[in-house]
Amino acid sequence: METMDQMLLSGWCNVLSSVPPSYVQLPEDRPVGKVFSSSSREIPMVDLGRHDRGDIIKQILKASKEYGFFQVTNHGVSKDLIDETLNILKEFHAMPSKEKVNECFKDPNRNCKIYTSRNNDKPYEILIWKDTLTHPCPPSGEYVEYWPQKPTKYREVVGKYTSELNKLALEILELLGEGLELDNGYFCGALSENPSISVNHYPPCPDPSLTLGVPIHKDPSIITILLQDEEVQQGLQVLKDGQWIGVEPIPHVFVVNIGLLLQIITNGRLVAAEHRVVTNSSRARTSVAYLMYPSSECIIEPAQAFINGSPSATYKPMSFGEFRAKYLLKGYKQIEEELHIN
Ligand code: OGA
Ligand code: NI
Repeated sequence: METMDQMLLSGWCNVLSSVPPSYVQLPEDRPVGKVFSSSSREIPMVDLGRHDRGDIIKQILKASKEYGFFQVTNHGVSKDLIDETLNILKEFHAMPSKEKVNECFKDPNRNCKIYTSRNNDKPYEILIWKDTLTHPCPPSGEYVEYWPQKPTKYREVVGKYTSELNKLALEILELLGEGLELDNGYFCGALSENPSISVNHYPPCPDPSLTLGVPIHKDPSIITILLQDEEVQQGLQVLKDGQWIGVEPIPHVFVVNIGLLLQIITNGRLVAAEHRVVTNSSRARTSVAYLMYPSSECIIEPAQAFINGSPSATYKPMSFGEFRAKYLLKGYKQIEEELHIN
């Protein structure tokens, strides 16, 4: 039985000259079709520093409805903090596999962990080209005792970053809530109680036309705020009207996307966009996803405001704990179908 440090992709893939068969995607899933690239600017850009709140809300809602994605500038998170965070997280993934695993084995409940895809439990599944460090990061500071302590400033820097991202996520949710005419503070409390960070690391791949960093999916979050490695142009792609759009990184700009939970809460008024990650052959890419998650007990269902009158509720209620377990087991399409009321 392999141990996690032996499994981590970054520990052994650098000597490969071809892609191992277990990582080769089915022909129909391979990222070989046309991609509308050099168009990161196509994904709407919203300047959060402007004074016209009504206009900001309008732009965010329009982008959320049309793309399920938007980018934000003047978001209040300092450039220095963004750079420092990305550097520390890249340093983390550059550590030897054994050390990374050691830093991530402190949590008995395995909420804080490093993992990679391996088909021990799902032998039919195709593996993906990525290692991920993930842990909860609620503003309460709970779980910090299980976070990595290497690089030495990890907890200090990631603590500051996630606390800033929490404010930003709540601000964006407040704007969305206002635009959707939900009660003030609708997303505060249980719906945003358990945010989490995922630090994805995609090593260079011998043949990016055969692999995926992440296959097509919708996020199991309310919203996700993504920071992209500005040194790597190719990575995130968003599906819109049957076309893949490459979202190239713009320094210090965040990419925000609507998650499947918000699609359910809005009774389908907002739709979570499908997206994927492609690999590249020259450089390792790191991305940092801040995922807004509810508490496990929180019931996910369409807000009352959207089921008065027609159309009535389109989705069945389910606790977030159950939703998350099903999402992991079955994937986004099946859970969306299961929750959908015909
Ligand atoms: C994800 C995701 C995008 C990226 O973690 O859900 O879509 O660029 N990541 O890593
Ligand atoms: Ni995603």
